Amino acid sequence: MIASPPRIGGLDVQSWGDPQDPVVLLIGAPQGLSPDWRRWVRALVEAGRHVLLADALEAGDEAAGLRRLLTDISSRPAILCSAQTLAAVVPALVVTGPALASCLIVAGEAPVEATAPLDGLPILTLDPDAPADPGETADAVILAFLERQAPREALYYQAGSDPRTLRDALGCFATGVTVVTTQDEAGQPVGLTANSFSSVSLDPPLILFCLARSSSNLERFQRAAHFAINVLHIGQQPMSGAFARSSAERFDGVAWETWDTGAPILSGSLASFECATHQVVEAGDHLVFIGRVTRARFEPRRAPLLYFRGRYRRLHFA
Ligand SMILES: Cc1cc2nc3c(=O)[nH]c(=O)nc-3n(C[C@H](O)[C@H](O)[C@H](O)COP(=O)(O)O)c2cc1C
Repeated sequence: MIASPPRIGGLDVQSWGDPQDPVVLLIGAPQGLSPDWRRWVRALVEAGRHVLLADALEAGDEAAGLRRLLTDISSRPAILCSAQTLAAVVPALVVTGPALASCLIVAGEAPVEATAPLDGLPILTLDPDAPADPGETADAVILAFLERQAPREALYYQAGSDPRTLRDALGCFATGVTVVTTQDEAGQPVGLTANSFSSVSLDPPLILFCLARSSSNLERFQRAAHFAINVLHIGQQPMSGAFARSSAERFDGVAWETWDTGAPILSGSLASFECATHQVVEAGDHLVFIGRVTRARFEPRRAPLLYFRGRYRRLHFA
């Protein structure tokens, strides 16, 4: 998380996440953020929210100070406040509340009368003593409430328009990362990073990957009757970077072995699949290589390297 201290509405404000995202304004968070609030900030940023944390409001001037802050934020933010600060927040939102904020989340036990003056403003109270559904965390309840009350705007792509938007839409599909390899006619190892891997069929056992026509290795893969897919684990991110850069020395310092075909099997990979090339299908600016799996090996206890929205990611186990 990156924090920067801009001033909004005359107050120092810490911020996390992308300023383009819809704002969630935290008020009355414990000094230094307690573990709960810290977890909420992380969950909010991961869910595409821009989180602002306002400094303490000036005593005696809380309502006016908060109203100044809210009018200085360009879009109507969602407000997350503690039950203890509710007495300072409610006066700022009376009557004009729905014009200044999209919704209010109160962390802690708050009597219904406390928020009664905020007619028309959607309110969620996170009562720590109220029975939650089994397995439903406060983070999940907050995120679901925000999705209903302050939904993010979707972006649209239409055939023929802006390929960048289509690329971004496709980037919403989280993938693993592989290094696809083969051996060329001179016996040299060949490999590149690819996330277009997919399983195709169990009987017969078929998998595929897509290779750009622009790849300097296109002909080598076309001429070889085989290839291997190496699925990377979280510790192999540098290898993914190396096999995506144009360099003749991609295999330098990399431990690998061969099985039946000569296609490099990268040591320690999460999984490796050796394949006989079954079919090559021309598809736009890529060729789809379908392989029949002849041998596979996998490591059952490692976490995968992930790729999502153009960045490497790691799996968070619940
Ligand atoms: C995460 C990631 C996934 C990639 N997936 C593919 C892919 O599926 N197919 C492809 O042709 N290139 C893919 N690339 C790009 C190639 O790895 C990169 O262009 C490489 O330099 C091509 O090398 P070459 O020209 O030596 O074949 C990917 C790159 C990254 C970083």
